Amino acid sequence: MTEPGRRIAPSRVRADIAHNARVWNYWLGGGDNYPVDRAVGDRVTGMYPSIGEVARADRAFLGRVVRHLAGDVGIGQFLDIGTGLPTADNTHEVAQHTAPDARVVYVDNDPIVLAHARSLLTSSPEGASEYIEADARDPERILSAAGRTLDLRRPVVVMMLGILNFVLDTEEARGIVAKLMDALPSGSHLVLTHPTLELGGEGNEAAMRFWNENATPPITARSRFEFASFLDGLDILEPGIVSCSRWRAGAGGRTPEVAQFGAVGRKP
Ligand SMILES: C[S@@+](CC[C@H](N)C(=O)[O-])C[C@H]1O[C@@H](n2cnc3c(N)ncnc32)[C@H](O)[C@@H]1O
Repeated sequence: MTEPGRRIAPSRVRADIAHNARVWNYWLGGGDNYPVDRAVGDRVTGMYPSIGEVARADRAFLGRVVRHLAGDVGIGQFLDIGTGLPTADNTHEVAQHTAPDARVVYVDNDPIVLAHARSLLTSSPEGASEYIEADARDPERILSAAGRTLDLRRPVVVMMLGILNFVLDTEEARGIVAKLMDALPSGSHLVLTHPTLELGGEGNEAAMRFWNENATPPITARSRFEFASFLDGLDILEPGIVSCSRWRAGAGGRTPEVAQFGAVGRKP
């Protein structure tokens, strides 16, 4: 584990190639990105104009899910893997607004997120927030480090929003999810979003090809069937697997779809 906020050696943050955390920050209207990120971000937007809506819908989904789980369900522990750069309404802020004693552990492997992690550590006095620099491909290490802040004998919400799409091998991605959920007790929840080519999104496929040739890390889309396989063995909360923009969005289900699945599963 690297201490958050520690000065990052310039060689660790690469300004010569676009990185997902920084481009996502750009699409969300943030300023923690470099010219190379903005150039790739603009090219992707040119090919796939709804990408900004996808990013905003994903964050809004995060807010609705965390409010529901911290408030209505009463789970006070969150493990947010693939956190992204700090933005408005980070997981601990949303959770602690509802439940001030909520405890949140953030995980990302991009050094730029570590460099900005201080903003994720502004926990309420009653709760806790912690940051771990780790790769999602190492669930054992994540669980062992998270266990210093979370009580893993009690239900935990595992959040993997927009990150399994960077684990290109579906079996490997399933294995990661299974290891995390197997280690946690009944009542734990898994929250997922994932890009897909099955919900429209004109230009999405070409934009992903462009991304894979010009940016890092490489990405893949998945079908509803593949996405559902990550939730095997869990009880999927209503309304099931939907565009993340439509998950309990109100407005009579008329919210426009985005090409990003969202779902929440509960471990029985
Ligand atoms: C699309 S952003 C999503 C950020 C946030 N979860 C959200 O939904 O707004 C994906 C994040 O996953 C991180 N990431 C990608 N691959 C990763 C890996 N193998 N291990 C840990 N983090 C990873 C990236 O650095 C980036 O911050």
